[in-house]
Amino acid sequence: MRTVEAVGGDAASPSLTQAMAAIQQEIDTAFDLLLPVPDDARAQLVEAMRYATINGGKRVRPLLLTEVAGLFNVDRSTAIRAGCAVEAIHVYSLIHDDLPCMDDDAMRHGRPTLHIQYDEATAVLAGDSLHALAFELLTDSRLTGDPFARAELVECLAKASGHNGMAGGQMMDMQASASEYDLAAVTRLQQLKTGALLGAAVEMGAILGRLPAEGRGPLRAYARDIGLAFQIADDLLDVEGDEGLAGKALRKDGEQGKQTFVTLLGVEGARARARLLAEQAAAHLGSFGDKADVLRQLAFFIVERDR
Ligand code: IPE
Ligand code: IPE
Ligand code: MG
Ligand code: MG
Ligand code: MG
Repeated sequence: MRTVEAVGGDAASPSLTQAMAAIQQEIDTAFDLLLPVPDDARAQLVEAMRYATINGGKRVRPLLLTEVAGLFNVDRSTAIRAGCAVEAIHVYSLIHDDLPCMDDDAMRHGRPTLHIQYDEATAVLAGDSLHALAFELLTDSRLTGDPFARAELVECLAKASGHNGMAGGQMMDMQASASEYDLAAVTRLQQLKTGALLGAAVEMGAILGRLPAEGRGPLRAYARDIGLAFQIADDLLDVEGDEGLAGKALRKDGEQGKQTFVTLLGVEGARARARLLAEQAAAHLGSFGDKADVLRQLAFFIVERDR
């Protein structure tokens, strides 16, 4: 099992550290139960889905979802199931992001990427199947007996995943003109590529908590700030990070001639912007008191992380 340090524990305070360790174990267990390997020719597909989902990354999106749901005393197992849905979309996006036709990466989470471990067809299909699994989880009446909440969850995750969200941001990222983007364009790209799914995780916690849309302003403001800070940190890691700790190839953005927050703001400027955003994000949660401590700490962890 991963240790607390294995998620970049240096910057994490005790309660965040515990929350991260707990969510990792719960998400691993949930995917283990969700993905029994069939005794037929689909076995390799499901083994590949298990390879990508179990013992995966930091689980920031499920943590956001469960912590927001926790503000409203949502049943933990419900929040974990919804957390698996958003993580399934995230994992699928990474599988496809690593393919030769996209970033062409051989290493993820310190292991060979899915298409290296298996093959490209299996990686495409494992991504497709995780995408479908996410919505299967959200439409299941075991998640919540309220069909309106289920429909709202599906709408939220679908919008954040498709052309107006993650996939749209990935397209902008892959365009040849990406090397000419200015700060406004890079910000827009990141809002879609990275921010949308992080924002969906926060929003889904609020939906499960039955928080009316008009009451979600502070949580949405928090999500917007950490979304931007998250991508700035990813761009900083690409320039300054340690490949062994990050578990993936770095120095890719420069190699591919991409404009990032670091090329546009410089290393120190990007770091200062990310720290300011983390402080701003934490301040949005003032009205939630101590219950939001993990979310506040997470904002700072996102900026200082080493993986
Ligand atoms: C990495 O996301 C890709 C981006 C969206 C920038 P994470 O850093 O959340 O990936 P894992 O799941 O923890 O590895
Ligand atoms: C990937 O962004 C974002 C998504 C998968 C949506 P990157 O290409 O920067 O992520 P890493 O650096 O490979 O993790
Ligand atoms: Mg990419
Ligand atoms: Mg990549
Ligand atoms: Mg990156």
